[in-house]
Amino acid sequence: MGPIPFQCWRLIPLSFPTVRLRRLRRTPALRHLVAETQLAPKDLIYPLFILEGRNQRQPIPSMPGIFQQSVDNALIEIDSALKLGIKAIMLFGVPEEKDSQATSALMSHGVVQQAIRKIKETFGNDLVVMADTCLCEYTSHGHCGIILDGQILNDPTIEVLSQVAVSQAEAGADIVCPSDMMDGRVQAIRWALDEAGLTDTAILSHASKYASALYAPFRDAAQSSPSFGDRKTYQMDCRNKREALDEIEQDLLEGMDMLMIKPALSYLDILQSARNLVNIPIVAYNVSGEYSMVKAASEKGWIDEEKVVLEMLTGVKRAGADMITTYHALEAAQWLSAH
Ligand code: PBG
Ligand code: ZN
Repeated sequence: MGPIPFQCWRLIPLSFPTVRLRRLRRTPALRHLVAETQLAPKDLIYPLFILEGRNQRQPIPSMPGIFQQSVDNALIEIDSALKLGIKAIMLFGVPEEKDSQATSALMSHGVVQQAIRKIKETFGNDLVVMADTCLCEYTSHGHCGIILDGQILNDPTIEVLSQVAVSQAEAGADIVCPSDMMDGRVQAIRWALDEAGLTDTAILSHASKYASALYAPFRDAAQSSPSFGDRKTYQMDCRNKREALDEIEQDLLEGMDMLMIKPALSYLDILQSARNLVNIPIVAYNVSGEYSMVKAASEKGWIDEEKVVLEMLTGVKRAGADMITTYHALEAAQWLSAH
């Protein structure tokens, strides 16, 4: 063989028609092979609203498919969640008694504390139990803090929150999840837990939680609407992003183990920036309003629910979430395992 004749050489330009990005989209197997983001049942955290008593199951009209239920019924749902590969739940209490000081939030026999004990007794460490650590479900006024003269007081609130966290951890919660947005609460909770010898209980902080209209169905579910005003003096303004990063930095310094970004779908830029800022696990909260909008549109036959839900959840992971708290968890896990 002689030398390659000059005419056969060709400069290969790094553009069309040499480059054809469609090559790797040709078959399902190729697409699967090159997929950058994976969504799996173990990424999903299922929220549950726990009622006192037994054999209770109340549908939440604005959240089709979601119930307030007593712990005996919750155990059945949790069992099916585990069978589908879901590893974690997040508990919200719907207590019978509410007062201005959120007393029922920190009682050792409170609705959530009892539920945690029962759930841990049943499933042990096969299941990660997360407890929402806030006051709004337990206060007569529905705010996330202690009130004096119409003001939501920061420092007295974090004292109460610390006691709530300790009571949940004592009951067996693996992770406490402050969702109140008071300043300094992660530090206060960490100290209180450590002082109580609960050094292994982790803190998932809702470090960047926005004042969002998308929480409306949740407030039906948790019966936690504020009786006056709104949450804008503690939850964040949707116009701000740098402030979210400040909130995250503060909670990191205070000792959060995991970060929650909430809501998810209208805040994917926050999620992506948070991903670049921290190395700890990030959870995104696909909130009630995001759930209800999908349910409503699919009930009308306007969208393909399965495809839309899986696309949205994948988008949240792609933006930077490691895990997603979502009311779609059971259905999504079913769809994922059917694939
Ligand atoms: C309250 C709390 C809220 C949610 C979780 N914890 C609502 C609120 O701030 O009023 C919302 C979750 C959802 O909408 O699914 N601390
Ligand atoms: Zn709250």
